[in-house]
Amino acid sequence: QTGMFTYDPGFLSTAATQSAITYIDGDKGELLYRGYPIEQLATQCDYLDTCYLLLKGELPNAPQRDEFHNLVIKHTMVNEQMQFFLRGFRRDAHPMAVLTGLVGALSAFYHDSTDINNPEHREIAAIRLIAKMPTLVAMAYKYGMGQPYMYPRNDLSYAGNFLRMMFGTPCEDYKVNPVIERAMDRIFILHADHEQNASTSTVRLCGSSGTNPFAAIAAGVACLWGPAHGGANEACLNMLEDIQRMGGVAKVGEFMEKVKDKNSGVKLMGFGHRVYKNYDPRAKLMQETCNEVLAELGLENDPLFKLAKQLEKIALEDDYFVQRKLYPNVDFYSGIVQRAIGIPVNLFTGIFALARTVGWIAQLNEMIGDPEYKIGRPRQLFTGSVRRDVQPLTKR
Ligand code: SDX
Repeated sequence: QTGMFTYDPGFLSTAATQSAITYIDGDKGELLYRGYPIEQLATQCDYLDTCYLLLKGELPNAPQRDEFHNLVIKHTMVNEQMQFFLRGFRRDAHPMAVLTGLVGALSAFYHDSTDINNPEHREIAAIRLIAKMPTLVAMAYKYGMGQPYMYPRNDLSYAGNFLRMMFGTPCEDYKVNPVIERAMDRIFILHADHEQNASTSTVRLCGSSGTNPFAAIAAGVACLWGPAHGGANEACLNMLEDIQRMGGVAKVGEFMEKVKDKNSGVKLMGFGHRVYKNYDPRAKLMQETCNEVLAELGLENDPLFKLAKQLEKIALEDDYFVQRKLYPNVDFYSGIVQRAIGIPVNLFTGIFALARTVGWIAQLNEMIGDPEYKIGRPRQLFTGSVRRDVQPLTKR
């Protein structure tokens, strides 16, 4: 019994962490940030409201909202030296390799002034990370394109500023499309936090040594990159494009047979989840966002969206998936909507990292803020050799 939630002993034996930030009921397909359903936050709030909520535990009132927004926009620029750090990468480096480096490099600028055990330092580190991630992700994109960086504009919304840094150029004014701006902001909200997933657990374990928060978040970026985790949106879109090349909807049945053949090693990317054994609530909201963006851009007949919906339909009626409780997760539709917005496939996980930064730092700060916390030290079940003596070389 923790608070109003009761857990069976079997669950408690696996729960390594207590947290008050995000609650998931995998059987019901429920996701709450600080008690608020994701469906309400994604439609009634914006990403900075959600950041305030995850960090402080309550939604901001009007003055708090303005103060937080003004604090974040004061930190959107990065040190000019970061441009020289970028130059060390090949232009075709994967943006997640670049982003892992850039976030780690931030620690070089703030290490000396950040004592993770000081609550005020933790708060400003959170603000700096939330404020700078859009700038860093856009810089990684522009570097790969060989285009000049766009400096942040503080008169734009968080999502609008990001879209302009991504797609604007010094040659002409960039007009933020409000439908795309809203969709981008909602994509950020849907990815903001998700309990003790692999990358959040990485950030907690890394941060538990007392290292500076920028280095701990860089560890989270590295973990998120994996195709079984945040890299699944990139893998899912590549999967849809492969099926499209093979013949599209007509080839879905053949593809599904491969997925069901354990020896094929082929998975339906964007499907399944370690916790959700029901529909990931974020996937429904992502599909709605996809509909809105495709309609706004006149892409209602996007073949990949049609293919994804057909794949989902077939999977949800197929015993292999039904018996294993495999449903679409947050990554199944996110690639299609990001591609429609113009985000390159290899930057999808970078967007995920941008959005998840607030969850990582909120969870890290929650842990460090607990006076009882200690450095993490997982133990093991040893399965190796029993004690034995070294034999001389001639006898080995
Ligand atoms: C994210 O943890 C989080 O909260 C992560 C995340 C977050 O917000 O931080 O939600 C973000 O990472 C979402 C997940 C993105 N990954 C993918 O979409 C990759 C494809 N999915 C799978 O790799 C898989 O579903 C996992 C890794 C997500 C979960 O793997 P599990 O724990 O092995 O899933 P399971 O135990 O429920 O699997 C049950 C069965 C197994 O087969 P059997 O051994 O019982 O025969 O279903 C199979 C699995 O092999 N299975 C799949 C499948 N996912 C599971 N078969 C085909 N396609 C799939 N996608």
